[in-house]
Amino acid sequence: MAKRFVIVTGGAGYIGSHTAVTLHEAGFTPVIIDNFSNSKPEVLEGIAKIIGEIPEFHEVDCRSQSVMTDIFQSYAAQGEVIGVIHFAAYKAVGESVKKPLEYFENNIGSTVALLGAMNASGISNLIFSSSCTVYGQPRKIPVNENAPILTAESPYGFTKQACERLIKDACKSNASLSACLLRYFNPIGAHPSALIGELPLGHPSNLIPYLTQAAAGLREPLTVFGNDYPTDDGTCVRDYIHVLDLAAAHVAALQWLEENDASCEAFNLGTGQGKSVSEVIQAFEDANGIVVPYIYGPRRSGDVTAIFADAAKAQRELGWKCERSLEDSLRDAWRWQKKLAE
Ligand code: NAD
Ligand code: UD1
Repeated sequence: MAKRFVIVTGGAGYIGSHTAVTLHEAGFTPVIIDNFSNSKPEVLEGIAKIIGEIPEFHEVDCRSQSVMTDIFQSYAAQGEVIGVIHFAAYKAVGESVKKPLEYFENNIGSTVALLGAMNASGISNLIFSSSCTVYGQPRKIPVNENAPILTAESPYGFTKQACERLIKDACKSNASLSACLLRYFNPIGAHPSALIGELPLGHPSNLIPYLTQAAAGLREPLTVFGNDYPTDDGTCVRDYIHVLDLAAAHVAALQWLEENDASCEAFNLGTGQGKSVSEVIQAFEDANGIVVPYIYGPRRSGDVTAIFADAAKAQRELGWKCERSLEDSLRDAWRWQKKLAE
């Protein structure tokens, strides 16, 4: 049977590596493209151990449209290229404030180059990694896909809005191009094998990598950013989704694009449940039987009070929903942290 290739830009990264594994399990052949700007070659070894073969890989900067086109065409000659999942981007909100041009250049530049390469190679299905950050603090939660897109708080958030817009426009101008804009809530956890997971380089700014490092005694106690928010316990509320549930949504979206005559559709990917920072700490302690050292500190600038997903559209259209609990995610995150410390 002809191979069914799926191009995975940023496939050596956190979400991309888990998605590559999930694609393989679903019978696709993932083709990973990464320049290791925020990942390491060892990730490919972890993927290989899980799937039992060395994944297809190209060390390439996906801003290079001509190289991407050559790669796409070489796989089209060997089988069918079902679509592209575009994870490659810089993602640190704080860093984006300091280096906006680099974020615009990489995140928007790579998406423009990718669309050009897809066009030149006749590949028609695109899945784009967007973020719930496009909603800012929504007026109504759970937030659905029709909520207004607010002025971005950071250059990073702006790149997600800009890419969504340019993908929509590209789909309008090219009837054979279809896309899913997947708006992730807060991905956490790791593959239960602990062979792949999130590799925070340097000081983690996201909650779970910091929490697991603090629990392991590698960092100062976790600072809970604010306990005076208008929420039940005063701490911020988010929607934490297991990275493997998120990965499964990409496979569902790809199948949906194959089966439907879609143009460009946005989907929220979350559990639909809001959890506060205090609830996450408690759940981590319960799941792992370990105490998390933490203190309360001031609010972090730019944080929204509460956001969680109305993921009904993804369930209805893609037939997808989360299967794993917060405790599952936190157990896997801790297993991964222990593996990192070995
Ligand atoms: P990550 O940094 O772990 O993975 C991104 C990968 O892309 C890295 O391996 C990096 O080396 C690669 N990359 C970056 N620029 C590249 C380029 N020009 N050419 C080739 N490779 C390049 O990030 P992640 O957490 O896996 O996020 C994946 C995507 O999901 C990103 O677009 C991110 O903005 C988006 N997203 C992530 C989160 C989250 O909480 N992790 C939330 C919402 C959206
Ligand atoms: C952040 C980004 C978001 C991005 C996502 C993935 C901001 C404002 N938002 O989401 O755009 O898509 O990361 O990269 O940066 N917290 C603590 N102590 C910590 C770390 C976090 O209390 O040391 C709290 C935060 O205040 C927040 C929650 O934990 O309430 C989750 O934070 P984080 O993991 O950084 O994700 P978001 O802020 O939701």
